[in-house]
Amino acid sequence: MDDHPGPPTLRVFVALAPPDDAKDELARALEPAYAAYPRLRWNRIEDWHITLAFLGELPATAVPPLRTVLAGRAASHPALRLALRGGGHFDERLLWSGIGGDLEGLHVLAADVRALVRSCGIEFAERPLRPHLTLARARRDDTVSVPPAAAGLAGFAGRPWRAERLHLVGSNTGRGPGPIRYRDIEAWPFGTAVRAGGDSAPATT
Ligand code: 2AM
Repeated sequence: MDDHPGPPTLRVFVALAPPDDAKDELARALEPAYAAYPRLRWNRIEDWHITLAFLGELPATAVPPLRTVLAGRAASHPALRLALRGGGHFDERLLWSGIGGDLEGLHVLAADVRALVRSCGIEFAERPLRPHLTLARARRDDTVSVPPAAAGLAGFAGRPWRAERLHLVGSNTGRGPGPIRYRDIEAWPFGTAVRAGGDSAPATT
């Protein structure tokens, strides 16, 4: 028996994550910015992700049906081929890396995920998808660091990679004074039900 049940609500989002070597490439490209802008609140590399749908605070009871539909979506589609590319900012406060590769597939996946979430009876505020990977946020009084840091990424073109898993992530925001921590509730590999076509491994005979 679990004497310490989890929290009755969770802050939840659905995301993709680049593989370690793609993240390492971007981290190397960011070294000048890490040195030049130490006051930016840099996200931890292990937390880097591409948000597809932000569901907000949900009752823990909402999670099991989500697992079922998201597992099904991941299994039935091959992995998307993406890349980290360039940089930009929102409102001079949020620094991001851009996403290249199969953006059409990324939009379809995000739309599917959002529809599946709604099919579970979960209401959430939808922002249009603007594919990006958040790198840092400026402090309240700082509007001068993010734009030049973004300009420094303009020429960055990371190698292509496959987004191998669909992640359902929980975060601890609002639960204590420490930094935001993300943890996978569960992650499902793409394409496990796809056995034919160019994206799956050839069958051995
Ligand atoms: P981001 O991809 O721009 O960083 C977890 O908090 C993730 O969900 C964050 O990475 C963040 O987006 C996204 N997010 C947080 N609050 C959000 C909101 N109100 N609407 C949409 N996305 C949000």
